[in-house]
Amino acid sequence: MEVQSDYLVIGSGIAGLSFALESARSGTVAIVTKRDPQETSTNYAQGGIASVLDPEDQPELHIKDTLESGDGLCKEDVVKMVVREGPARVQELIGLGVNFTRQSGPEKKLDLGMEGGHSRRRIVHAKDHTGQEVEKVLLERAREQPNITIYDNHMAIDLITKSKLIKRGIVISETRETCWGAYVLDVKTNQVKTFLARVTVLATGGAGKVYLYTSNPDIASGDGVAIGYRAGVKVANMEFVQFHPTCLYHPMAKSFLISEAVRGEGGILLDSKGNRFMEKYHPLKELAFRDIVARSIDLELKKSGDECVYLDISHKPAAFIKERFPHIYHTCLKYQIDITKEPIPVVPAAHYMCGGLLTDKNGLTNIDNLYAIGEVACTGLHGANRLASNSLLEALVFAKRAAKSASEDLAANRNIPLSKAPLWDSGSATDSEESVVVTHNWDEIRRFMWNYVGIVRTNKRLARARSRVQIIQEEIKEYYWNFIVTSDLLELRNLAQVAELIITCASLRKESRGLHYNLDYPHQDNEHWKRDTVIWI
Ligand code: FAD
Ligand code: SIN
Repeated sequence: MEVQSDYLVIGSGIAGLSFALESARSGTVAIVTKRDPQETSTNYAQGGIASVLDPEDQPELHIKDTLESGDGLCKEDVVKMVVREGPARVQELIGLGVNFTRQSGPEKKLDLGMEGGHSRRRIVHAKDHTGQEVEKVLLERAREQPNITIYDNHMAIDLITKSKLIKRGIVISETRETCWGAYVLDVKTNQVKTFLARVTVLATGGAGKVYLYTSNPDIASGDGVAIGYRAGVKVANMEFVQFHPTCLYHPMAKSFLISEAVRGEGGILLDSKGNRFMEKYHPLKELAFRDIVARSIDLELKKSGDECVYLDISHKPAAFIKERFPHIYHTCLKYQIDITKEPIPVVPAAHYMCGGLLTDKNGLTNIDNLYAIGEVACTGLHGANRLASNSLLEALVFAKRAAKSASEDLAANRNIPLSKAPLWDSGSATDSEESVVVTHNWDEIRRFMWNYVGIVRTNKRLARARSRVQIIQEEIKEYYWNFIVTSDLLELRNLAQVAELIITCASLRKESRGLHYNLDYPHQDNEHWKRDTVIWI
């Protein structure tokens, strides 16, 4: 089966939906999304969107905070652009119907939150479930658009590019590498469909599932980075994996974040003896940059042998806690933790990929007609460590810019017929009864990534991780070519690819900076390493 549209958007989080809504003005949009459309990291975002909306705040301060957090690797022009364009994008969200929390006074001003590394209150939020509110509204607006069709339970496998078509014997006139859409698995029917488009956008989110402990939902298996890399897109800075300092530590709680906003409102970190420890590590204490807080907790846990530390907000009035953090309050209560009365057991967990597919200021990759926006991209905004709540902001700004640029591409190539793509070739495929192997490999990757490529790395641990991932990749190759593809197998292949990219970038960087900390090179080396780690096939 073949589907044709002007734009193909892969992913239905804040980046994909924002792009689609903008692009529906100039053409038809097909959105493919591998589970239910709202099942995205966006949907789980808690803290909010960082933006200069208070007259007392200034863009220069947000720029300074972002640059400091990025530890020397942010692209300053990108930071300035995002910070300056951000407030208008937040106003557009409000225009679409997003209901951000407001103060109770007559002016009903936006209530602005505080998070680590910010020198001002500037996080616009919907209580502590900002992402759910944003995702709901964007999806509602997208569903109202006649030009947008959403294909749920459709998982992109690989891109259709000029090089791939030539390999399959198709004659192509383009001289530059160009993208014409993607092969997509209809997960419910197990049929592979050809989605042809003049512009393709990877908006597939992050890759937290590459680690054993993560704040991310199951969709975050790094598909977009792996798909892009296989097609020849440049990948950058994969060593900078952000670990969120405070995820709920409870045997029954899967991936539940305790927002940094809790620390922004006065939450303090305690060890098991009740001692506050962050003052030993940074003058900003609990509101230091995220890499510093996560590393400090890791060190405390290693020193004490404890399994978790504690985040305490119980000194604040109970009514305030319940009103400001209803989602966190009710979720913790389900696990018999009353956060108005007792500290919350927390541990760091993999949270965000600062690296990804390298793009320009419009989200364009090095392949014509192929854009990457949102967490899948590496735009230069975050450098070596993302400032809290700058991710949703980046997605909004780049979706808008990419849509503008893509509409110009579309106007230029609208009359060129779409390249004929051959049907997906499943080779000598037979059903795999070996799904246990997929589960086993998936588990193994996540474990060795956690143990060897986590918050603190060494050359030896990285080398161990590399040899493990190589063996697994060989096994996957065999499965991939011999058996019918399933979403589990595709995710495993992508996960292994992303793990390999993280290990490669981490092994190349011979210094410690931001989120990358290697005990064998504990210092920053600005002479040799004040630059991105860029790799491609
Ligand atoms: P996502 O929202 O993750 O969407 C990705 C989409 O791609 C999904 O629809 C997925 O199904 C789809 N997809 C993936 N692979 C495929 C494939 N192969 N085929 C088809 N579809 C595919 N950032 C902030 O700025 N502020 C916050 O307060 C904040 N809180 C967070 C809290 C949590 C718990 C988490 C996990 C993250 C948080 N972040 C926050 C980070 C932020 O939410 C994400 O970086 C951002 O939402 C990513 O948006 P996205 O559109 O790029 O990807
Ligand atoms: C949080 O609420 O702590 C998440 C904020 C972010 O990841 O930017």
